[in-house]
Amino acid sequence: MEMNRENAFNLLNEYVDSDSLLKHCLAVEASMIGYAKKFGQDVETWASCGLLHDIDFEKYPDEHPLRGAEILKDKGYPEDFIMAVKGHADYTNTPRETQMAKTLYAVDELSSFVIACALVRPNKFEGLKVKSVKKKLKDKAFAKAVDREQIKRSAEELGVDLTEHIQTVIDSLIQREDELSQIGMSLIK
Ligand SMILES: [Fe+2]
Ligand SMILES: [Fe+2]
Repeated sequence: MEMNRENAFNLLNEYVDSDSLLKHCLAVEASMIGYAKKFGQDVETWASCGLLHDIDFEKYPDEHPLRGAEILKDKGYPEDFIMAVKGHADYTNTPRETQMAKTLYAVDELSSFVIACALVRPNKFEGLKVKSVKKKLKDKAFAKAVDREQIKRSAEELGVDLTEHIQTVIDSLIQREDELSQIGMSLIK
């Protein structure tokens, strides 16, 4: 199995039918690409990791992400890749030892949160600022399911200042939204 984005996308589509889960995976992929470029890491690997981190979530929600880890192992994905996928779920107690694992953990929830922020704005992603994302983080009633502490803790673990972290995710998602709009798709529709 060659590590590339196309293979990962095809594999994901074998396991995921849900539009919302697919969009989440595309969003996390975008953030992983943003960070791979920022850190000078392999874009195809990091993109694939973002795409595939929730591969089992629709079919095997009770076994997530351990079932996904097995699927990926069978497909020949490397150990560090599988450890990163396992590591995005705290309950597995998998240490996040690589930058890829730490980044995945840090962009998973935040990518969804930033999309939730864009959704409620009249101009959606256009002009979305870190400041307004931070304000929404403080608003406990907004997107209640998102664990604020996880967002802060994971940014610290990654070693990136929260403002810079949110900005990187915003930039990555705006770029992804542009790409998707060209094929008639959107992260927020
Ligand atoms: Fe997950
Ligand atoms: Fe996820």
